[in-house]
Amino acid sequence: MTQETITPAAQSPAATPVRDFFDRWRPKVAYQSLSLGLICGLVALLLLVGNAVTKSTIDAQLVEDQLAVLRQVLPAALYDNNPLLDKVTLQDAELGPIEVYPARKDGVLTGMALSISNIGYGGPIQQMVGLDSDGRILGVRVLAHKETPGLADKIEVAKSDWITRFDGLSLENTALGQWKVKKDGGQFDQFAGATITPRAVVKSILQALQFQQRHQAGLATTKEVQP
Ligand SMILES: Cc1cc2nc3c(=O)[nH]c(=O)nc-3n(C[C@H](O)[C@H](O)[C@H](O)COP(=O)(O)O)c2cc1C
Repeated sequence: MTQETITPAAQSPAATPVRDFFDRWRPKVAYQSLSLGLICGLVALLLLVGNAVTKSTIDAQLVEDQLAVLRQVLPAALYDNNPLLDKVTLQDAELGPIEVYPARKDGVLTGMALSISNIGYGGPIQQMVGLDSDGRILGVRVLAHKETPGLADKIEVAKSDWITRFDGLSLENTALGQWKVKKDGGQFDQFAGATITPRAVVKSILQALQFQQRHQAGLATTKEVQP
């Protein structure tokens, strides 16, 4: 009994010129490079379109997040302007450019929120510090950080009330030497096994207070941008 051999031609439908073309080119490096290039281009295009479609939503969410934090460090009763829209970036001799959100009521400067950061254990710890015009801390919140979860994330108000212990303090009621963690001779608790993180946070808060002293008068006389 003879066994019939099935040829590729018999397995598949009749060859077409297009099919011939691809059969000839598929094994070639140029074909594979081109295919890969096309796929990468398509993915890049999809990412660009996705980014364009979601950008406005993400931007709106960012503004909403900033507003939510601002409301925590600047009581609404303190201002009738929009501190977000009135944001100014002030060049400071010690700290470089600092973003300031002025709080004004009837055109008078009543306080400010500063965006300030120092390097902690895992990277920069971005903070928002709210101060009234007498230099008293209204609130401090950590906006972003890369500290170790479970060990040093007690700087987040959602995890612990540690960050609220600065409320009401000022350079007047707290001596300069006290603006340190206890381990360094100051008055603020460090965390068990994690001193670097709270040390950076305390440093930023002190810098915010000193920054305000340097810029308060200038900001008070600046015309408000947004009524
Ligand atoms: C894996 C790992 C993660 C750590 N993460 C932190 C951290 O996020 N923040 C921090 O202050 N210390 C962290 N530490 C501990 C610090 O290395 C350091 O020992 C501690 O902050 C005490 O610092 P001090 O010697 O200046 O008092 C971590 C240690 C290890 C091994």
